[in-house]
Amino acid sequence: MQITTLIPALILLVTQSKTAFGDVFTAMADMEGLIATEFELVKHLDTYIQEEEKRMKQLRGILEEYESMYQEAIADVPKYLANPVNAYLLVKRLTSDWKKVEGVISKNAGSAYIQNITQHRSLLRFPNEEDLNGAAVALMRLQDTYKLDTHALAEGKLLGGKKYSRHLTAGDCWELGRQSYNNGDHYHTVLWMVEALNKFEDESNKTVAREDILDYLAFSTYKQGNLKEALQMTNELLKIVPYHQRALGNKRHYEKLLRQLGVTERRGEIGDEDNIDMSEPFDTTKLKLTKPPGTTEHWDVYEQLCRGEKLMDPKLEGRLRCRYVTNNVPYFYIQPIKMEEALLKPRIVVYHDIISDEEIETIKRLAQPRFERATVQKKESGEREFSRYRIAKSAWLKHEEHDYVSDINFRVGDITGLDMATSEDLQVCNYGIGGHYEPHYDYARKGEVQQDFGWGGRIATWLFYMSDVEAGGATVFPKLNLSLWPQKGSAAFWFNLYPNGEGNEMTQHAGCPVLTGSKWVANYWIHERGQEFRRPCGTKSDFEM
Ligand SMILES: *[C@@H]1O[C@H](CO)[C@@H](O)[C@H](O)[C@H]1NC(C)=O
Ligand SMILES: *[C@@H]1O[C@H](CO)[C@@H](O)[C@H](O)[C@H]1NC(C)=O
Ligand SMILES: *[C@@H]1O[C@H](CO)[C@@H](O)[C@H](O)[C@H]1NC(C)=O
Repeated sequence: MQITTLIPALILLVTQSKTAFGDVFTAMADMEGLIATEFELVKHLDTYIQEEEKRMKQLRGILEEYESMYQEAIADVPKYLANPVNAYLLVKRLTSDWKKVEGVISKNAGSAYIQNITQHRSLLRFPNEEDLNGAAVALMRLQDTYKLDTHALAEGKLLGGKKYSRHLTAGDCWELGRQSYNNGDHYHTVLWMVEALNKFEDESNKTVAREDILDYLAFSTYKQGNLKEALQMTNELLKIVPYHQRALGNKRHYEKLLRQLGVTERRGEIGDEDNIDMSEPFDTTKLKLTKPPGTTEHWDVYEQLCRGEKLMDPKLEGRLRCRYVTNNVPYFYIQPIKMEEALLKPRIVVYHDIISDEEIETIKRLAQPRFERATVQKKESGEREFSRYRIAKSAWLKHEEHDYVSDINFRVGDITGLDMATSEDLQVCNYGIGGHYEPHYDYARKGEVQQDFGWGGRIATWLFYMSDVEAGGATVFPKLNLSLWPQKGSAAFWFNLYPNGEGNEMTQHAGCPVLTGSKWVANYWIHERGQEFRRPCGTKSDFEM
């Protein structure tokens, strides 16, 4: 699995290696390529079916001919065979004619089709098992973060009952459950297997076998701590497949555990008074289920902020202002910039209409061909690695590459008053289905190592929003109760370090999972060196912390 593959930082920065497999799901831009793949498959499959239909028609013609001659022959066999022409034709039919039939039957259009697709594999983008798993995990993440009901989600309803997609079949739900199971996530396995079971009952054309649902459901139900229900589900499975070896073993195991529990708790009785009715639609509220824990502190706040819940103190919010600023840059006297305060302490600001659509499109176009799965730096060594906690595609652009990149580089320097010579290149990111960046700090915290450019730490972060996001995708600061919503053309800016160079813990932030749409951002991480005379007290009071 590539999650653990380490790519030395330098190589990552200078090479443009081919996008590895297993990461298609990370960016909406790549997902679009899959639509083209599907188009090709549909086209080829259509050709294949037409050819097969032609072949079947040919075989049916031969069959009819054989049949009529056979009927003629058995009407009076001796008379039929007395005719030497008939005798000859019978022999011919069973030798050379039959060879032709065999030829038609074994003319393997199927393997030609498969071969055709295989040849196309190098040209088309095909997702693999890892992509499937990634996409399933992304869906679970959305389900948790945005508190989406499993059933509603399976019906294709995301928010406010609006239907966004096709509904999932029992087989689709089963596959999602299976992916969760493979990840050791029994909580979501139960949710999706229950959904599969309920859908199964309503399906006239079954998309999965009931025993296959029960097999996963029973075990994950047990793993979530519902022993009695797990036993019942296992019994249900054994009604369908009486000699299911694993189920028999599990049944013995559950019964033993129940007896042990019963001895201490209920004097041996295994009651069936509150048994679940397996013929009714199943309700997960009858089970004790434990959601997997969040991966960082303040996880609840993070998810609340992602959902747009207002947590900020209204008094603090009331003090925030919007205004036009010039930062003493002559150019901005002509065209002042729109600045909105998002927070005063630490100071976080959002600039509006700071990058044009044309600049955005150019940057996207430059970045997309070199997208790689975004990496994070290993805390201990600073090496770059793939991680579940950052799911996106990214590419780095140097300011020399295009006038527009250089323009915006200067613009950021002018607005912030910081020396952009010690900024990392522009990092362009695209977040696809459930793409996100879990709560993190942009600066290296104690004991952590970041790639050392000899420029000191990441003093400040500048984050361009290059798209609107239909739903989800906020930038949130869990320790500050702050959510920033992406707005195409705007940018957020804050200092990560105090003037004395120490990291400000409050700047911990995250990119919430994208629920619908596609999120494009680009950021500069600006470093300390060169800022010694640019961020002393006073001159740029806008950014005092
Ligand atoms: C294979 O692909 C080519 C080019 O796309 C197409 O013309 C041909 O019909 C395909 N053959 C089969 C058997 O699908
Ligand atoms: C089930 O399959 C049959 C035969 O393939 C088809 O005629 C019918 O329309 C299908 N029913 C549903 C609900 O999809
Ligand atoms: C964030 O909100 C919570 C709950 O409303 C509150 O207890 C906490 O003090 C707030 N934190 C900040 C930094 O405003």
